[in-house]
Amino acid sequence: MTILVTGNLVRSLKPSTQGLARIRQARQRITLERGWAIDRPQWLEQASQYLPLEKNGKGMMSASVGISTWKRFLAGKPIKATNFKAFCQVLGLNWQEIVDADTVICPQGGTEHEEASITHHAPKQEVGENLIQNSKSSLAKVGIVTGTAKTPTSRKIQNRVDWGEAMDVSVFYGRTEELATLKQWIVQDNCRLVGLLGMGGIGKTSLSVKFAQQVQHEFKCAIWRSLQNAPPVNDILATLIQILSNQQETPANLPENTSFRITRLIEYLRFSRCLIILDNAESIMQAGAVAFQYRPGYEGYGELIKRVGETFHRSCLILTSCEKPQELAALEGESLPVRVLKLTGLHEKEARAIFQAKGTFTGTPEEWKELIQHYVGNPLALNMVASAIRDVFGSSISDFVKPLKAEAWDFTDISQLLERQFNRLTDLELEVIYWLALDREALEFSDLKDEIISPQLKQQLPEILKCLTRKSLLEINNGLFTLQPMVMGYVTNLLIAKIYEEIETISINLLNSHALYKAQAKDSVRDTQIRLILKPINDRLIHRFRGKSNLEKQFDKILSDWQTKYPLTPGYIADNMINLLNLLKSDGKEKI
Ligand SMILES: Nc1ncnc2c1ncn2[C@@H]1O[C@H](COP(=O)(O)OP(=O)(O)O)[C@@H](O)[C@H]1O
Ligand SMILES: [Mg+2]
Repeated sequence: MTILVTGNLVRSLKPSTQGLARIRQARQRITLERGWAIDRPQWLEQASQYLPLEKNGKGMMSASVGISTWKRFLAGKPIKATNFKAFCQVLGLNWQEIVDADTVICPQGGTEHEEASITHHAPKQEVGENLIQNSKSSLAKVGIVTGTAKTPTSRKIQNRVDWGEAMDVSVFYGRTEELATLKQWIVQDNCRLVGLLGMGGIGKTSLSVKFAQQVQHEFKCAIWRSLQNAPPVNDILATLIQILSNQQETPANLPENTSFRITRLIEYLRFSRCLIILDNAESIMQAGAVAFQYRPGYEGYGELIKRVGETFHRSCLILTSCEKPQELAALEGESLPVRVLKLTGLHEKEARAIFQAKGTFTGTPEEWKELIQHYVGNPLALNMVASAIRDVFGSSISDFVKPLKAEAWDFTDISQLLERQFNRLTDLELEVIYWLALDREALEFSDLKDEIISPQLKQQLPEILKCLTRKSLLEINNGLFTLQPMVMGYVTNLLIAKIYEEIETISINLLNSHALYKAQAKDSVRDTQIRLILKPINDRLIHRFRGKSNLEKQFDKILSDWQTKYPLTPGYIADNMINLLNLLKSDGKEKI
């Protein structure tokens, strides 16, 4: 196809027959989603955001386009090239896929690449500056523009970052190649969707945070969020839109419909160059499913991934995950704007640095190699193993590697490694781990202490936290304690299995020592507790007791037995049983 190159010449473009059909489809979808009738001024306001600035006296102002041009465009008639491209952008279409090849002329010296760069890369003038002149535009109100100077060129667009609860990556070794690849893809090639995949503990989260820190200045806005607690897609969309709109749009004034929210998000992704990282995407996928599946109710994430990958915009979404979402698989390609980086383990030098940070270890070069290869350079595994070798094997790599060779200690698999770590924990350490899994969020020492009942545990808490940190099971960030993410997933499953067993066999322990649901916690924490802990417990029990009414009887029995036998014992059992019962009665509405 020949391609028009901009210059002083004004060229006209019109859509191909197929292009026109796509224009109509896109226009209808947006009308449906946003309620803009065909002749509403919003189309023109939006389009003017994508038009180049024009001279206005001494300053610059955004160009405008009239309703008759819009109607000519919709009718498939030729219009000025800049307007044509702007309208395509409003409709979320790539103009090069829409245009009638015969109307496109390649003047001397022009190359396809030059013109493509106008569409695929951020415009020379920041789109935000266009907007300042356009006070009617809803996006102009988003407030990412600061300063009071009168001309747009003198205004600065503020860079904003929102790291959420991103982990501390001050200790970070190697990964120079991976960081360079990500930079090439995202900053230079303008990829709009990138999957960062790899097994648990391999370093996806750390790399994503490090990368975001390194390139944040390239973006108007950089946001990092974890999906570890499986937030509903509408909540995540609301959070993102709220941040991107500089708090102008709140959940209350956003449409309930997920597709509409995604459309709104994409508007912001077009409007300015943003980097969004969603970590732990495997949390929204069905564990143990044979074929790839989202958890029930989380299918909206599929639409989000698909549309962010397919639609033209100037931003990038990075997803980190152990599993590859099918939408990513369908869209990815080496020279496409959707790519996947598969993360492998650390090199030997960096792997050894992890050990060195924990002390001095002894071993021959072969033993070191063997150890690191055994754990495929997985930094989480290496961290845990380093702690174990230091504490149990007197820091001797040789003593550890010998049984490894004899296959007496075969736990290549991370979950086996975790299991082994867990089998070595004391009861008090386990109690703390269970609390941290139930709390879901990082919390202060005093909050953790307050919820614990056992006086012995309260007293020994500082010592126990120190031990768990040494064992690399805990993370401490700004004085707040939480579990290492992989550990959190593992403990949650363990906890569910234990509570299930306690209810099934009426042998009460955790059910009284720990609160499964914290009525006074933040909404998001309570929602997570219901979704990830209480509901899975109930679901399994309903199956086991063949129906809700039998299970209700079991709950009643547990509670009345306990109250008869231990009326004065402090604990959480009554609250727990009532909460499980209320959830059971709420008929799957997931409300207590
Ligand atoms: N490049 C690295 N250098 C040092 N430690 C690392 C590195 N990458 C990961 N880690 C450590 O390994 C552990 C697991 O990393 P994480 O990023 O949480 O893995 P994932 O997200 O793949 O499960 C964390 O404790 C982290 O601090
Ligand atoms: Mg992670």
